[in-house]
Amino acid sequence: MSRDKLVIFDTTLRDGEQSPGASMTKDEKVRIAHMLEKMRVDVIEAGFAIASNGDFESVKAVANAVRESRVCSLARAVFADIDRAAEALKGAAAPRIHTFIATSPIHMKYKLNMPPEQVLEQAVKAIQRARQYTDDVEFSLEDGSRSDFEFMCRIVEAAINAGAGTINVPDTVGYGEPGEYGAMFKRLIEAVPNSDKAIFSTHCHNDLGLAVANSLAAVMNGARQVECTINGLGERAGNAALEEIVMAVRTRKDLFPVDTGIATEHIVPTSRLVASITGFPVQPNKAIVGMNAFAHESGIHQDGVLKHRETYEIMRAEDVGWNANKIVLGKHSGRAAVKARFEELGVKFESPQQLAEVFERFKALADKKHEIFDEDLHTLVNQGHDQGLEEKFELVSLEVTSKTGTVPAAKIQLRVQDAHQSAVAEGSGPVDATYKAIETIARSGADLLLYSVNAITQGTDSQGEVTVRLERQGQVVNGVGSDTDIVVASAKAYLHALNLLEHRSARAHPQRDGV
Ligand code: KIV
Ligand code: ZN
Repeated sequence: MSRDKLVIFDTTLRDGEQSPGASMTKDEKVRIAHMLEKMRVDVIEAGFAIASNGDFESVKAVANAVRESRVCSLARAVFADIDRAAEALKGAAAPRIHTFIATSPIHMKYKLNMPPEQVLEQAVKAIQRARQYTDDVEFSLEDGSRSDFEFMCRIVEAAINAGAGTINVPDTVGYGEPGEYGAMFKRLIEAVPNSDKAIFSTHCHNDLGLAVANSLAAVMNGARQVECTINGLGERAGNAALEEIVMAVRTRKDLFPVDTGIATEHIVPTSRLVASITGFPVQPNKAIVGMNAFAHESGIHQDGVLKHRETYEIMRAEDVGWNANKIVLGKHSGRAAVKARFEELGVKFESPQQLAEVFERFKALADKKHEIFDEDLHTLVNQGHDQGLEEKFELVSLEVTSKTGTVPAAKIQLRVQDAHQSAVAEGSGPVDATYKAIETIARSGADLLLYSVNAITQGTDSQGEVTVRLERQGQVVNGVGSDTDIVVASAKAYLHALNLLEHRSARAHPQRDGV
């Protein structure tokens, strides 16, 4: 079987960030981008440059930082968007502009209020404009899976003639079914006379739990680019999960006539990094990257695996990076060793001062915990990585009493701007008491949507990582905090979320209209 290259286009930093509460800072995006580059992702969609100044700065920072992968910005099919995308991508080694317009009858009529001819004309002009900046232009037919086939053929032919090298046909609303969506790719590629001049791409949402199946059906039928995200993060129910696509085509080489260039051993570390930065934990039974993905509980399975691994295992845990978690550092490790390990993890320090701060946090952690894993190192960077985030609330001290037969109570001291304030509160448990004490001071008016605790590594001395999702006036934020004491981690996460809410209220966030 002759094998084609399957282009892996990661959109964790753009569509992934559109999950409510999953927003990432510029520095966090650069760290994830470095991991994606190390994993040899072909294209990194770094954001939607025109959506806000923050998005613009993030695309620019990723474009300047990444050398080995293509870096892409999304742009509606309008000149202002394309010009802004091009501006943000100026420093990229290999820039791509990804422009899109909706092509389904329902979107054209109700959202765009445009007849099909005008949509076609606007798409062509946008692609020509983008080609003035770069040879690498992708065109997406938004809501492609619900579009009229004859119209799709016409717009795709015109888009290729205008200079689009990649044609993406998304299942924007997650409505597709594998048989139907795959067949549509085959028909389209056969019907469009110049289809051999472009790579066809799939981009699927998971509303019916079919995003990966639909993407693979498209690949079976001629698509040679898959758009996906780490952990399947993304708008609503998410996008197709990168790790599942990559491992499916690799494990079923007998069926899929394609190879990706992905260095799969970086999958699990990248998944962990994305989970920790976004505060979206990975469910234990998630394929490939879930804690239980390679754990055999049944005695019959364990016996089989011990006798002959392939009886119950179709992939090797180490091939996706499960054993990459080495204990390399402890309390006797020096600054140079810590710096070197961070560099291996793709973390670069902007100044000796930043390294000194992280090293101080490392020493404090190593005093409490003997073995420092890579995941612990990531949390140390996360704790100090919200640069530009004004910390209105900072934890000074926390004292909690929790004893059987008594009502738990918390006494907290915060620095609020420049003044210290204290409060005492009781609650149904130590975390509840702590949050009530914080709210006595902050009076944020926010609603708690989610509270979750995860152990970062194994063992009772592990750090607990707490995620808190707060909502205030339609703004949703995720605060993350870690500590070997989970009540302290909980307080840090709550304060992080409050600081993010303050930051958001201070800067208006323009609507990502039309995506
Ligand atoms: O889901 C979608 O249609 C998109 C496009 C902008 C590619 O995200
Ligand atoms: Zn999408």
